Amino acid sequence: MDAFRILGGRPLSGTVDVSGSKNAALPIVAATILADGPVRLDRVPDVADVRTLAMVLARLGVGVHRNRVGQMHLENIDRSRVHADPRLVRRMRASFCVLGPLVARRRRAIVPLPGGCAIGDRPVDLHLAGLAALGADIRLRNGCVVAEARRLVGAPIHLAGPRGPTVTGTANVMSAATLARGTTVITAAATEPELVDLGRFLVTLGAKIEGLGTPTIEIQGVDQLGGGAHRVIPDRIEAATLAIAAAASRGEATVRGAAIEHMAAVLAKLDEMGVRIDARGDAIHVRAADRPRTADVVACPYPGIPTDVQPQLMALAAVGPGRGQFVDRVFPDRFHHVRELKRLGARIRGIPGGGAVRGVHALAGAPVTATDLRAGAALVLAGLAAEGVTLVRRIGHLDRGYERLDEKLNRLGASIERTVVVPHGSADQLAARATSTATVNVE
Ligand code: UD1
Repeated sequence: MDAFRILGGRPLSGTVDVSGSKNAALPIVAATILADGPVRLDRVPDVADVRTLAMVLARLGVGVHRNRVGQMHLENIDRSRVHADPRLVRRMRASFCVLGPLVARRRRAIVPLPGGCAIGDRPVDLHLAGLAALGADIRLRNGCVVAEARRLVGAPIHLAGPRGPTVTGTANVMSAATLARGTTVITAAATEPELVDLGRFLVTLGAKIEGLGTPTIEIQGVDQLGGGAHRVIPDRIEAATLAIAAAASRGEATVRGAAIEHMAAVLAKLDEMGVRIDARGDAIHVRAADRPRTADVVACPYPGIPTDVQPQLMALAAVGPGRGQFVDRVFPDRFHHVRELKRLGARIRGIPGGGAVRGVHALAGAPVTATDLRAGAALVLAGLAAEGVTLVRRIGHLDRGYERLDEKLNRLGASIERTVVVPHGSADQLAARATSTATVNVE
């Protein structure tokens, strides 16, 4: 089990670069199934989730080649394959984004119901209702969604869920509608920048889409999409995580290559918490000489504070003077990080749909466990702020969505070592792993 061993209390300083957006890259890579021509994608982050999706596509007959500079080349070779590999799809929820493109272009799709981050109830009913409204025949068989359609037909589709729009649901329906006969109007569509990026990519391939970034998206179906090149937007969640890392360590750092226009709510919240923010061009300069103030945080759909940054902000709030209430309107159960932050000495009380934080003077390092991607990020940030050594276990979650987070933070002066933790009693494993390059810790 891989872990980060973090020696906290070191103020970060220097400049760090933002990678391409994972959440934009995933639906874009999935949508290449629609393309009748070669696709080149730039600034694709080298994270496990993207690698998993690339494997899903490769098994669906897509030639995928990735080079060292974050460029990915994709080309449909065998269009007869329609069954997404269950082991891969269950590993990652976003691989469900192949459903719409498959049924639209290959007329049939067999995609297992997804797995993914353990952050509460995450249904896919809206994805299925949207594709059914486009005329797909949808059935559930042996834990798989089987979708079929001779040709999809444009339709009005209202995508509102009980807690607002669905991001990947909008991606699935919008992608599928590009090849439908006639016009599709999606109302209550998600407006996240990652979806705008997906829409721009589809337009590059020849799709006709209006209203991107608004709750009403209109798609005129076309007979065929071609190939094309697209550069993925910077990752606003990673940029926010790095900025909060600098603040949590009470350091001063520049986060470079960010799309500041996508980050207004987070930057305003950091400002409210007393972090000095100077955002210009594509650079965010962060300075936090003093302890940041605790604040109230409500995570909600774009342009609000992203649910994907809520745990990291809670880690920051845990070390500031004052009290703050955290509520997550998108995933009300997304508070697994609370229990782990408390192991580091944070004072957080559960409240309905969230947590009440009372800032403490200092956190103290301890062994903790990442339960999901962003909870893991919160624990790393808390570890940077804490006194002493924090061991963050199960960092596989972090590798799913952050491109070399440990290396980036270390270049800013953090002390994070990637280690292997072997549970008591696994002597064979211990011996085997001792020969690897990583440090071995015994729990
Ligand atoms: C995407 C992001 C994820 C982020 C989330 C919310 C990707 C790959 N993942 O996940 O990082 O945390 O948006 O911003 O982009 N819902 C339904 N029925 C559905 C689908 C969703 O009720 O069919 C509900 C969910 O329970 C949740 C809300 O809608 O309350 C939002 O979920 P959704 O936007 O679909 O999340 P994802 O697209 O899976």
